[in-house]
Amino acid sequence: MSPNPVKHYLQFSDFDAGEYAYLFQRAALIKRKFKAYEKHHTLTDRTLAMIFEKASTRTRVSFEAGMYQLGGSVVHLTTGDSQLGRSEPIEDTARVISRMVDLVMIRTFEQARIETFAAHSRVPVINGLTNEFHPCQILADIYTYIEHRGSIAGKTVAWVGDGNNMANTWLQASEILGFTVHVSTPTGYEVDQSVAGLRSRHSYKVFSNPVDACRGADLVTTDVWTSMGYEAENEARRLAFARWCVDEAMMRVAKPDALFMHCLPAHRGEEVSAEVIDGAQSVVWDEAENRMHAQKALMEYLMLGCID
Ligand code: CP
Ligand code: NVA
Repeated sequence: MSPNPVKHYLQFSDFDAGEYAYLFQRAALIKRKFKAYEKHHTLTDRTLAMIFEKASTRTRVSFEAGMYQLGGSVVHLTTGDSQLGRSEPIEDTARVISRMVDLVMIRTFEQARIETFAAHSRVPVINGLTNEFHPCQILADIYTYIEHRGSIAGKTVAWVGDGNNMANTWLQASEILGFTVHVSTPTGYEVDQSVAGLRSRHSYKVFSNPVDACRGADLVTTDVWTSMGYEAENEARRLAFARWCVDEAMMRVAKPDALFMHCLPAHRGEEVSAEVIDGAQSVVWDEAENRMHAQKALMEYLMLGCID
């Protein structure tokens, strides 16, 4: 008898709309119990290994605290303090770690690297950010949208800034959950449809002017001008992105009840003005907190499937 294939979460398109509906309602239940100090130990005696090849604040704390709250435990590795930093092949690392733990979360560079790890892992692997995708963040962002405004289906999300891992993941989500993304990036920083892994161009529209992208939007969102790993391009990006700062003028043309989101860390005065990120339409702190609730639902689902 062959064992069930291991289910991974390497990009947003790994799950379908039904699985997301389950995860969003499960995250709501998990959050309610957390707020009420009710125990929710569904992963007792399970261990999560977290491998960070890039820096993190939110991803580390949300996975680590979340796993403890589920009754499990966590092992934290970085490139520098493991044999990964001394060229042990990723395949061997995957074979070894996945014999000792129940679940692995990795933050790394190329998507191909996490895919190689997953191909050699006996246990589920979660993408905690790669150059191409950040699915856990968009899972939390859409959960946050639903908490504040209800279903995201049929809504318009304005993406202002780099055609990066966050943009790619929003685009994947739009195809699966039935909303539209208005994308505005500087020339040379466009989304690459094949890198984003999109089935078609139907769920997004491209705007050269970021103000036009925000017109009528239900949600305006952005990210750093320079993602981790691209620091050598800092100066060129600072010049190219000068007009891609989400400010009050952009928020004024969005719907009156539009939300503002940012995955954080943010640079006030660069990709977003202080007035917007610290203003009444911003939900960035809920968004950050919801990483933990959404990922607890995700870890449970990968380990145990649907509960109830
Ligand atoms: N948004 C996010 O992933 O934050 P960290 O880089 O702090 O983990
Ligand atoms: N696009 C950013 C997101 C950080 C959470 C990066 O990859 O650095």
